Amino acid sequence: MTGRPLKQIHLAAHFPGVNNTTVWTDPASRSQIEFSSFRHLAETAERGKFDFFFLAEGLRLREVKGRIHDLDVVGRPESITVLNALAAVTDRLGLAATVNATFNEPYELARRLASLDHLSEGRAAWNVVTSSDAFTGENFRRGGYLDRADRYTRAAEFVRLAREFWDADGAQVRHAGPQFDVTGTLSLPRPPQGHPVVIQAGDSEEGREFAASAADVIFSRHSTLEAGQAFHADVKRRLAAYGRKPDDLKIMPGVTYVLGDTDADAHERAAEIRRAQVGPRTAIAFLEQVWGVDLSDHDPDGPLPAADPVPDSELVQGRTRLGDPLEIAARWRATAAEKNLTTRELVIELTGRQSFIGSASTVAAQLDEHVQNDAADGFILVPHLTPGGLDDFVDQVVPLLQERGVFRTEYTGRTLREHLGLPSPAGG
Ligand SMILES: Cc1cc2nc3c(=O)[nH]c(=O)nc-3n(C[C@H](O)[C@H](O)[C@H](O)COP(=O)(O)O)c2cc1C
Repeated sequence: MTGRPLKQIHLAAHFPGVNNTTVWTDPASRSQIEFSSFRHLAETAERGKFDFFFLAEGLRLREVKGRIHDLDVVGRPESITVLNALAAVTDRLGLAATVNATFNEPYELARRLASLDHLSEGRAAWNVVTSSDAFTGENFRRGGYLDRADRYTRAAEFVRLAREFWDADGAQVRHAGPQFDVTGTLSLPRPPQGHPVVIQAGDSEEGREFAASAADVIFSRHSTLEAGQAFHADVKRRLAAYGRKPDDLKIMPGVTYVLGDTDADAHERAAEIRRAQVGPRTAIAFLEQVWGVDLSDHDPDGPLPAADPVPDSELVQGRTRLGDPLEIAARWRATAAEKNLTTRELVIELTGRQSFIGSASTVAAQLDEHVQNDAADGFILVPHLTPGGLDDFVDQVVPLLQERGVFRTEYTGRTLREHLGLPSPAGG
């Protein structure tokens, strides 16, 4: 044990709409765009006393040979619009929108986020993402105009300028920087939280530095104990250079979970869910991303294709490049041979997204272990069912965390900043 008081766990709920965790074939799966779905998940999260509800963003549907990938279900309402509607039917739950800093303007976005913070009485958060790919850029006037290296330069100045607008409390702002030259007056008083909570998602060196300088929360990918501890230590170490304390930035990996009556039941369910998450078409689409050729005739239940990938292919659009295709293919072939896996089994192995599997008490103990041992400060839970996927967690796991004394039984604050134990920003 660490010999210090128990850390309190922070919990957020990711709306499982467009991602490769969601299982659309499950009969319990409902619409990803009807308001009733968003409301169901938000009300469940609030019943569970969660810190916040989280919406991801994708500004263009991803395509494979001109077809929409089967997991990128068509339709995704604009995040802040949805959160404004949820503000009216929830009371304490934080409301976090993912909004791109590359394809928006600071004045406009500062205004929309301040509006959400006012309407929700201090519950707004902004997850600052930075995609610069030309595929997404084609939807915007400038196209893919920003180099990878410049994304965080713009994002950092964007956040600084948004904060100047929020602090100005209706006074004029004059900002002359390398990215933005703006004179403007935000037509709103200072938001209730001072600054809406800023979240960062992105893992490069530049992304980590940006988070250390400017973010209140990091949405990370590092969900195992060892990787989480390494990431936690790395990012928290960077804070001092910006005059910040380790507690000023909360690290919340995105995690999935599968519950069962016993650990064995849960593992059985988890295997079924993984097969449903990676159907034959999904397995082939994943492979095409690396091979760069049409593999629709390839048998997903057979071995990997005998031919090598074609580097620099534009076949699959809108997916992050995974690296050098020839190297990746060699690595995948070695794994498939070593473990005797078919194509689809290999993709299941490579894209496994189940972080916590077991009975409710096993999962509660594991989550707690991660937080007490500084692999995380909390979690953004990504259920596999829309919108009922959080119900079992709130009914079964939350009470066990409360019994352990590591999760609130009632909200003690009103604002998201208060839920997260974050300092109020100076200024204003
Ligand atoms: C956990 C996580 C979640 C993300 N969610 C989104 C998202 O919802 N929408 C989006 O456009 N980008 C999202 N991103 C992408 C990042 O904002 C960023 O563009 C990408 O990670 C590349 O930046 P990096 O080189 O710093 O990692 C996410 C990244 C991570 C790590």
